Amino acid sequence: MNEVRLCDTRAKELSHVKDNDNIAPSMLDSVFFRPVHVPGRNWKSLVSRTEPQSVSPLAPLGIEAAMKAKEDPNSVVRPKIFDEFALTDRVGLVSGGNRGLGLEMAIALAEAGARVVYCFDLPKEPSEEFKASREYVSKLGNGSRLEYFCADVRNQELLWKKAEEIGDKEQRFDFCIAAAGILKTHVECLEYPGQEFRDVMEANTTGVLFTAQAAGRQMARFGRGGSIILIASMSGRITNRVRPRVSYNTSEQRIRVNTLSPGYFYTQMTTAYLDKEPHLFDKWSGRHPLGRLGRPDELRGVVTWLASDASSFCTGSDILVSGGHHAW
Ligand SMILES: NC(=O)c1ccc[n+]([C@@H]2O[C@H](COP(=O)([O-])OP(=O)(O)OC[C@H]3O[C@@H](n4cnc5c(N)ncnc54)[C@H](O)[C@@H]3O)[C@@H](O)[C@H]2O)c1
Repeated sequence: MNEVRLCDTRAKELSHVKDNDNIAPSMLDSVFFRPVHVPGRNWKSLVSRTEPQSVSPLAPLGIEAAMKAKEDPNSVVRPKIFDEFALTDRVGLVSGGNRGLGLEMAIALAEAGARVVYCFDLPKEPSEEFKASREYVSKLGNGSRLEYFCADVRNQELLWKKAEEIGDKEQRFDFCIAAAGILKTHVECLEYPGQEFRDVMEANTTGVLFTAQAAGRQMARFGRGGSIILIASMSGRITNRVRPRVSYNTSEQRIRVNTLSPGYFYTQMTTAYLDKEPHLFDKWSGRHPLGRLGRPDELRGVVTWLASDASSFCTGSDILVSGGHHAW
């Protein structure tokens, strides 16, 4: 109803514009409607247009569903919230998917119904954890599968080529999680060796770009939109200024780009780090108001939400899952 009222007001405000003007003036850009230039079309018909800009494939939902049910008491009413989270038949890739957060997320997406999750990582052969996860997914009974591919995310050509092959084979590309990353030992900022910094940037920044590009190119190719999730970190939240631009530039293709910033999670990466500096264990745990490190499975819900239509209006956002660390 708000939409109709807002448009009527706009129509009055713009009544000085000639009737035969077929270019929707930029003033017409409202929160709800973005009229486009339609040759031969009278802009005023666009102003009074009451259809929404987009409709959920699962419509009617929520209040609209309730109103429809009221109009037609014989209509079938059923919960749809889990349908919104469903990734039925969707295809995508997870970099760093051989273990840790990447593999945990890959399993979650498979459980949500993805047709296949391609896991990219460095080792030639996948880990025992990956093999067990692949087998586990094959037994879920929902037709979902995990596939492993040895790829270094710093190799742009290889990533583009592999994503294209996936697109050729599956004829769609819907999601991408860039979870590959490295963690170097702590060195004071003023002493930080240049090569070490370049190594980190190559894997954690350049590699993320190449991964997102590889997937984004296929998403654009199939024209069905998609969801790219960049695993960032609470540590980089303030400085990572490129994020809003990425999400803006891809918005026309209906590709959503969000970052997921975990606090301290207990994985092989952090275990190896804490083994060298055990005094940090209590410190890190205490820094989370929840008093402990996170478990990888505690990212299942958020990543499924981001990859699915349940988050269809979320782009350019950073989702913090930090055990409350950021609240200090
Ligand atoms: N665990 C945490 O507490 C935490 C917190 C914030 C952010 N993160 C980020 O989440 C991501 C996953 O972390 P994790 O704890 O699961 O680490 P992990 O070391 O268990 O997993 C990272 C995976 O990335 C792979 N990888 C590294 N370089 C690669 C490359 N060049 N090409 C392809 N694969 C490569 C590794 O082989 C590994 O399997 C990382 O980017 C990390 O920075 C982790």
